[in-house]
Amino acid sequence: MSAPKICSKTLKLNTGAQIPAVGLGTWKSTDEECYDAVMAALKSGYTHIDTARIYGNEAAVGKAINDFLKETGTPREKLFITTKLWCIDCKHPEKALKESLARLNLNYVDLYLQHWPVAIPPGDELMPTDENGFRKVLPFEEWNYIDTYKGMQPLIELGLTKAIGISNYTIPKIEKLLNDPEITIVPACNQVEMHPCLPQDDLLTYCTEKNIVVQCYSPLGSTGAPVLENETLKSIAEKKGVAPACIALSWGVARNTVVLPKSVNPKRIASNVEVIDLSAEEVKAIEKIGVESPRRVCDPKWGTKINVFADSDRY
Ligand SMILES: NC(=O)c1ccc[n+]([C@@H]2O[C@H](COP(=O)([O-])OP(=O)(O)OC[C@H]3O[C@@H](n4cnc5c(N)ncnc54)[C@H](OP(=O)(O)O)[C@@H]3O)[C@@H](O)[C@H]2O)c1
Repeated sequence: MSAPKICSKTLKLNTGAQIPAVGLGTWKSTDEECYDAVMAALKSGYTHIDTARIYGNEAAVGKAINDFLKETGTPREKLFITTKLWCIDCKHPEKALKESLARLNLNYVDLYLQHWPVAIPPGDELMPTDENGFRKVLPFEEWNYIDTYKGMQPLIELGLTKAIGISNYTIPKIEKLLNDPEITIVPACNQVEMHPCLPQDDLLTYCTEKNIVVQCYSPLGSTGAPVLENETLKSIAEKKGVAPACIALSWGVARNTVVLPKSVNPKRIASNVEVIDLSAEEVKAIEKIGVESPRRVCDPKWGTKINVFADSDRY
């Protein structure tokens, strides 16, 4: 039986660049945890780190990256760093990315994603709510995700990012974006929730056809890793003598997606970058999980007007 190995697989983006198939997630990691986690990840063989303005940890992520580069003499180009445009920055992506780069203390990122296809009124509050406690969003007619993406397109030429992409987009939204005559840059990636309980086969097929790499967020089911409780995953893991996380992540890598496991535990950080070959029979068993135990864990309520994931959602 083969043993898990550090994943060195990369996928080609539509820009020609390569993206490492495993990246460290950093959502909900505090500054101190985040510094240690990013440092541990880079020392364990990760070359890809995912952060976002809204995570509030770009400074810690950047400090760990810069310390690692200095300590090891690794050139910056060997790493792939992603950050994301928060929804209140919808009308000024250039300013937002420059501010992210200042916090990260980097000259450029490898990928800048529009975090959600939602526009929030610009202001000081990251998540403003109305008098009824609902999140405030701008009406589609006033400003929408296509307007935001248009503002992101010049960022590559400005040298602030190597690629731009989207996150939490469904097929109808990508279609709407690509059909807009002012969209000249096909997103390099779509970062969405994807794991054995939410395989999203149609979205993956569609993105692959359009030359958009899919990045799987919450690949373990987010906080507490509930996906790993699945009996099929547990039994394949037991048979192969690895952790259930290794099976979930190896499955994601095998289907040519990028997986972004988050951990602040050094042992789990090290093991999450190791993948193992799966047999056709094992892949088939994992495919059944999404049919038998479907589950979406990340579905923020954006207020009364928007349901980002509803097919009938006209936005
Ligand atoms: N674009 C978006 O809208 C979006 C949304 C959500 C997430 N993301 C990105 O995707 C990343 C990953 O998603 P996520 O943070 O939601 O969740 P996740 O990676 O699916 O799961 C993280 C949870 O799993 C635990 N864990 C990690 N490795 C484990 C292992 N080997 N065995 C058992 N438990 C393990 C972690 O605990 P410990 O830390 O204690 O190990 C944590 O509780 C985020 O951090 C973020 O970078 C993006």
